[in-house]
Amino acid sequence: MAVATAKKPENGKTDRKHNIEAMRQDYYERLAKHDMSPLWKVMGALVPNEPATRCAPVVWHYDDVKSLVMESGGLITAEEATRRVLILTNPALQGESRVTNTLFAGIQMIMPGEIAPAHRHVSSAIRFVLDGEGAYTAVEGEKAFMSPGDFVITGNWAPHDHGNPSNKPMLWLDVLDAPAINFFETSFAEDFPTPTQETTRQNGDSLSFYASGVLPDGTEVKDRTPVINYTYTRTRPIIERMLQAGDIDKRHGARVRYANPVTGGPVLPTMGAFLAMLPKGFRGEPYRSTDGTIFVCAEGQGTTDVDGQVLEWGPNDVFVVPSWKRYVHTAAKQSVLFSISDRPAQEALGIWREGK
Ligand SMILES: [Fe+2]
Repeated sequence: MAVATAKKPENGKTDRKHNIEAMRQDYYERLAKHDMSPLWKVMGALVPNEPATRCAPVVWHYDDVKSLVMESGGLITAEEATRRVLILTNPALQGESRVTNTLFAGIQMIMPGEIAPAHRHVSSAIRFVLDGEGAYTAVEGEKAFMSPGDFVITGNWAPHDHGNPSNKPMLWLDVLDAPAINFFETSFAEDFPTPTQETTRQNGDSLSFYASGVLPDGTEVKDRTPVINYTYTRTRPIIERMLQAGDIDKRHGARVRYANPVTGGPVLPTMGAFLAMLPKGFRGEPYRSTDGTIFVCAEGQGTTDVDGQVLEWGPNDVFVVPSWKRYVHTAAKQSVLFSISDRPAQEALGIWREGK
């Protein structure tokens, strides 16, 4: 009997606890019937103390990517596919066609003689050229011929088509802000009746004009750059001179930001890009920021340690550092890294942060 007496209050507590849990459960079920739910059950997930990325760090090695993309050349034409692109899917976001939470990435190929027909969409797109020479992107009446390392832009609603009059396949990385546009449910797109657009300006006109230090009198200020192609032949020597002058950021190397020459701001309101040269033997200081970032190795060889996971990279490899993951770049050879993220969108909203 002594045992039973000792247990009684505890049983009473258990019963009370059981009762309140049952009452709460009943309450939650009744709430759900009215499309309501208690905040206190989800507070931590809704307002985490620091960014809780859904993305994984990941690298795609170009040897694998190139052979798989080349295989698609025999299976579907660029015109049939509209765009012959293999999507780089973040392995933590299977089936979502995104490489970071806000950005799409894919590898596009255009074979000799092919045309990828004219269309336009609200999603802004950039290309970073990996392989080939002499294919073009036509944007708003201007053709930009492309070479490896070139950074090509088609802004929100700008008509664009691609063609390859060369005798070699051309491959590039496509990055679009489509997941962000779809988050806002603001996507529109349309095809054009003809596969190519009329060109009204000289080839490469926008770069020679806007990279010259003068602007058209009365330039209209847009939220995106008027330059279509930031060529590697112009940008690479700049970071090389920075490196030689010792102008090397301890985290990022000798790095420049691609800018809208009219405003000095980012090239697009939704995406911003950088080009960095890392000296041989570089070991960066740890860095993290809230913009999940896509990197491309344009030259060299090295590793990026992302929260203890080591990504090894060489020419044309693409890798991803998720939001707020601490990373360190190491370069075994002198290397060039292109990078792109949604940083301008975060900065415009006042939510971008960086740290060690
Ligand atoms: Fe497009």
